[in-house]
Amino acid sequence: METVVSGIRSTGKLHLGNYFGAISNFLKMQRENDCYFFIADYHALTTHPHPDDLHGNIKQVLAEYLACGIDPEVATVFIQSDVPEVSELYLLLNMIAYVGELERTASFKDKIRLQPQNVNAGLLTYPVLMAADIIIHKANKVPVGKDQEQHLEMTRHIARRFNTMYGVNYFPEPDAYNFGKQLLKIPGLDGSGKMGKSEGNGVFLSDTPKEIRQKVMRAVTDAGPTSPGEEPGEAVKNLFLLMSVVSEPETLKFFKEKHASCEIRYGDMKKQLAEDIITVTDPIRARINELLADNGYLAKVVAQGAEKARASASKTVREVREIIGYKPF
Ligand code: TRP
Repeated sequence: METVVSGIRSTGKLHLGNYFGAISNFLKMQRENDCYFFIADYHALTTHPHPDDLHGNIKQVLAEYLACGIDPEVATVFIQSDVPEVSELYLLLNMIAYVGELERTASFKDKIRLQPQNVNAGLLTYPVLMAADIIIHKANKVPVGKDQEQHLEMTRHIARRFNTMYGVNYFPEPDAYNFGKQLLKIPGLDGSGKMGKSEGNGVFLSDTPKEIRQKVMRAVTDAGPTSPGEEPGEAVKNLFLLMSVVSEPETLKFFKEKHASCEIRYGDMKKQLAEDIITVTDPIRARINELLADNGYLAKVVAQGAEKARASASKTVREVREIIGYKPF
């Protein structure tokens, strides 16, 4: 039984890549560990969302998470900004995080390129807030994708530095949660790269069947195989990979054989792929809409989650203050 922390930014809808990549693994993980799942709505501020959008985005991600099967009776599900203790730990950790190491973070350099007009200090200290999210619950495991590995490394450095600086063995150094197999990287529909929120190449869990059919029919393919047994190109390989997660094995086999014998009609394959995606997403979409309409339930979930998260977080902050040397008069 490990203590696991996982955060997701409230900046976009969940897509098939999130679902098959990470969330489907969380369903088992949550039963075997003490899991904290939260929505990183402080981190979301680094990109300056409009006040009119902030709450709706948080609510959407919450409903989508729950619709996927994250169970608030099993795991602690909460909103980051409902746990003010995290901002106190963030402040304290900022004193032992070095500007130099933060400036060298790949995600910071990316952001500077992507939003040169908004290089705020929150972007620079993004990994410190993330470290606070994790070690505030004394987590030892964090499920992370490739893009977050450096942040987890930074979390370990910060935890170790705190322990060394104060001569304690207080914070564990968290490792990546290992799902026992390679995490599936779900490709997008644009012929290259993985499915992403901002790339415009994704199928969202909340998309309607009509939207899904349109997106899949527009997916990039190629001119078709010219000789029997020819390897499919990158774009078509991606569609086969998508098919391998949503379709019946016979369906995949059927189209692979059609490709190998140069008889494939990509239109037929896409039609089938779209229907199989819809079969997977339809019940999830129905549940998302049900949850979005039940504000009373969502309010109960986040209140209960905040209470559990704050119990764990306030204990840590109390102990950290003591270690640092704060004393009551
Ligand atoms: N940085 C993560 C992302 O962009 C989100 C996140 C914030 C997170 N705090 C975390 C993930 C703590 C794991 C643990 O996806």
